[in-house]
Amino acid sequence: MTKILSGRTRIYGIIGCPVEHSFSPLMQNAAFDALKIDARYLAFSVKPEQIPQAIAGIRALNIHGVNVTVPHKSSVISCLDEISPLTQLIGAVNTIKNVRGRLIGTNTDVSGFIRSLETLNFSPKHKSIALLGAGGSSRAVLAGLADAGASCIFIHNRTVGRAESLVTEFSQKFPDTQLKSVSVKTILETPLDLLVNTTTVGMETDASRLDLSQCRKIKHLADLIYSPPKTRLLKQAEELGIPAINGMGMLLYQGCDAFTFWTGQPAPETVMQEQLLNLV
Ligand code: ATR
Repeated sequence: MTKILSGRTRIYGIIGCPVEHSFSPLMQNAAFDALKIDARYLAFSVKPEQIPQAIAGIRALNIHGVNVTVPHKSSVISCLDEISPLTQLIGAVNTIKNVRGRLIGTNTDVSGFIRSLETLNFSPKHKSIALLGAGGSSRAVLAGLADAGASCIFIHNRTVGRAESLVTEFSQKFPDTQLKSVSVKTILETPLDLLVNTTTVGMETDASRLDLSQCRKIKHLADLIYSPPKTRLLKQAEELGIPAINGMGMLLYQGCDAFTFWTGQPAPETVMQEQLLNLV
């Protein structure tokens, strides 16, 4: 069925570079259709130097909301009118809402990740957790887990200085969570409630040297990678009987939470999930 667009059709979208391969247009358009909302979601390829103009364009053209993806999640912040304290701390926005010309930014990667853990029946409160990686994704995951009451979070990163800076920065904001930059040896020797891979290792080449069978005790595993759907770490978790999830849940729930942030309505999660499952 062809959708009839009119002068009242609301426009949403995603800005990034590249954006051509984004799953979000299919997922969000299916959600609008399912709830009979007169809106369309488009992909806008925006070069880094054109971010101020693109954000001004959201106001000028009355675009109702956008997702923001690589490499613009940090650079858009200075163009916005309001962001939540947690989003400020992470330093990355993935969703913008236009409220009568006032642009409000949030980060639904954080809530999306925490919600994806529910499929493992895992709550971060009072738990010991280790993160592999200290990049942009790690910041969002770390903030979400600390905000949800994790008691202890270890961070291991190839570039140790990056993990150390993250610990220093976030320790001040989350004094109730013990944060520590650690070696692989510590990850191997410490019993953990959850291990999260936030690195890009496993996406194209799999250079990760962590062997889960050598770990003392890991109760759950989350790998943020969703393509391929089963990284070496996830395959190993399956062999060892460790409950595990890939990044598909985070992708789905960040989209669901963005939809609700824009429309104020519960997202049609099953419809959105079906779209993602058709793509992989
Ligand atoms: P993202 O926003 O997806 O987190 P990023 O900020 O570029 O992307 O961070 C990528 C993460 O993957 C970093 O923790 C990076 O480690 P470094 O800080 O040492 O660069 C990690 N990473 C990427 N390739 C890696 C590899 N081959 N081995 C180990 N870690 C790797």
